[in-house]
Amino acid sequence: MGEVRVSLFGFGNVGKAVARVLVEKRNFFLEKYGLSFNVVSISDTSGTVWLPEGVDLREALLVKETFGRLSSWANDYEVYNFTPVEAVKEIDADIVVDVTNEGNAHEWHLTALREGKAVVTSNKPPLAFHYAELTGEAERRDIPYLFEATVMAGTPIIGLLRENLLGDTVERIEAVLNATTTFILSRMEMGLDFEEALKQAQSLGIAERDPSGDILGIDAGYKATILHCVAFGPKTFDEARVKGIAEITLGEVQRAKAKGKTIRLVGTVERGSITVEPKEVPLDSPLAVESHENVAVIWTDLLGKLVIKGAGAGLKETASGVVSDVIKAALTLTGG
Ligand code: HSE
Repeated sequence: MGEVRVSLFGFGNVGKAVARVLVEKRNFFLEKYGLSFNVVSISDTSGTVWLPEGVDLREALLVKETFGRLSSWANDYEVYNFTPVEAVKEIDADIVVDVTNEGNAHEWHLTALREGKAVVTSNKPPLAFHYAELTGEAERRDIPYLFEATVMAGTPIIGLLRENLLGDTVERIEAVLNATTTFILSRMEMGLDFEEALKQAQSLGIAERDPSGDILGIDAGYKATILHCVAFGPKTFDEARVKGIAEITLGEVQRAKAKGKTIRLVGTVERGSITVEPKEVPLDSPLAVESHENVAVIWTDLLGKLVIKGAGAGLKETASGVVSDVIKAALTLTGG
């Protein structure tokens, strides 16, 4: 049986969802893969809780209803005010899982790799700005560095590009990679103006309180940049041409609708070029997705056109991508 120690960074909604899956599906992972996951530490902005050896996380998390802030249960355990770099160095773990949105997390991802620890992340900026450095370090050290959940949550586009289309030359990817903007645009099709649609997205918890990253196209731009890196080679977000949906008017949406089209925020990725912009797409195009879905249309020399569509956001859905990567990393580390 492979005992695998996980150090979890980020205990917001996604972090809690990941912890919950690791705890609640413990027997499934043991039976299917022979892997036993032991979450040895959890860090959020209130500190790092170092769980003593042998602590039953199920008890710790569920009985004490500690899916609240770390500080609400931390007094039972040792709490350290480590910086992430210190926490990565101090805590004995096999896999560092980063589900934060920390912009400078590449520093501690590199630290983890240099310490011989695998890294699994859903955090986009480290990849969108430092892909070459991070994946280069991981390759030199032969340590897993996995990031499925950075793009399309648990819908496995990264795995598809990295592990399946090995003999194909990818020619182009066109994709709708942001659920919030799709929600807003589809509400505008129903007659709401931009502000009303945004408010509705916020009240349903789809858009963040500060929605700028989504509506300005930055989130989709990060994701399109990561797709470029995987399909064609390193580039950074600074090299992407990004335009969001903030200037789209109700009139434009309604005129598109009258022509049998819909406006979606489309990322187009070709060798050397990354563009994100609102585009009119025919209603029967695979890009005309509904609110909660992401889609990518991949053209290759051998397969022609391949469409991958599924959840691009959500807690369980993001946990699916993160936990799959945790299992992949664990199987590599344990020789499974
Ligand atoms: N905010 C993103 C979206 C989800 O609306 O698609 C996280 O990547």
